[in-house]
Amino acid sequence: MNAATAKVETHQNEKMQRYYRRHAAIYDLSRWTFLFGRREVIRRLPFEWDEAISVLEIGCGTGYNLETTAKNFPNARLTGLDVSADMIDRAANRLIPFKDRVTLIQKPYQRGGGEWGDGFDVILFSYSLTMINPQWESLLLQAKADLKPGGILAAVDFHDSRFGWFKRHMGRNHVRMDGHLTPVMEQAFSAEVSEVKGAYLGVWDYFVFLGRKEG
Ligand SMILES: C[S@@+](CC[C@H](N)C(=O)[O-])C[C@H]1O[C@@H](n2cnc3c(N)ncnc32)[C@H](O)[C@@H]1O
Repeated sequence: MNAATAKVETHQNEKMQRYYRRHAAIYDLSRWTFLFGRREVIRRLPFEWDEAISVLEIGCGTGYNLETTAKNFPNARLTGLDVSADMIDRAANRLIPFKDRVTLIQKPYQRGGGEWGDGFDVILFSYSLTMINPQWESLLLQAKADLKPGGILAAVDFHDSRFGWFKRHMGRNHVRMDGHLTPVMEQAFSAEVSEVKGAYLGVWDYFVFLGRKEG
């Protein structure tokens, strides 16, 4: 990674740490009202409930999805990565009942990799990719490298809105929603699910994506 790229990534990481220092305490109280599709993307993972799958969530936040995954897949081994210490602290609390099979790591997801051994069966991005700007595409491709052959990239996130005022509002909260994610995912992975759905009578759309790494 060259110095300019490293500087851009450091800036994004610091922005997230500052933002979630203020938002971590109200995250679970507020986000269930608009982060749609999170349970669905986990429910639709193409594995039997008792398989010993390995799952990495990038930007795991307060651990909502890791908890759901741990309950749905009682033999899964789970890793949660997040740049925000405030969010990871809350995840650690929530996941105490599953601590034997959950590992939480406080650090940004970065290019370079090679640190995950044989790779994961599933990598999940839930409402994190739209906040990883501008390096979302390179980290999506890093996730592909960190999956086992045949592994699944699962993602749920904001897609787009026809209302400029709403996109500007989301932009002030560090979210980019320009329909930019699904075309790149569909090119990089063999899509098994790629659906765009309306939220709040069409104020915005969100997407659910499950794609396989071929080979
Ligand atoms: C909107 S929250 C989503 C949390 C959780 N996935 C969920 O669905 O509730 C976005 C999370 O991504 C994390 N994040 C943002 N950029 C990151 C990066 N480069 N590496 C790791 N985590 C990151 C933030 O700290 C935050 O916890």
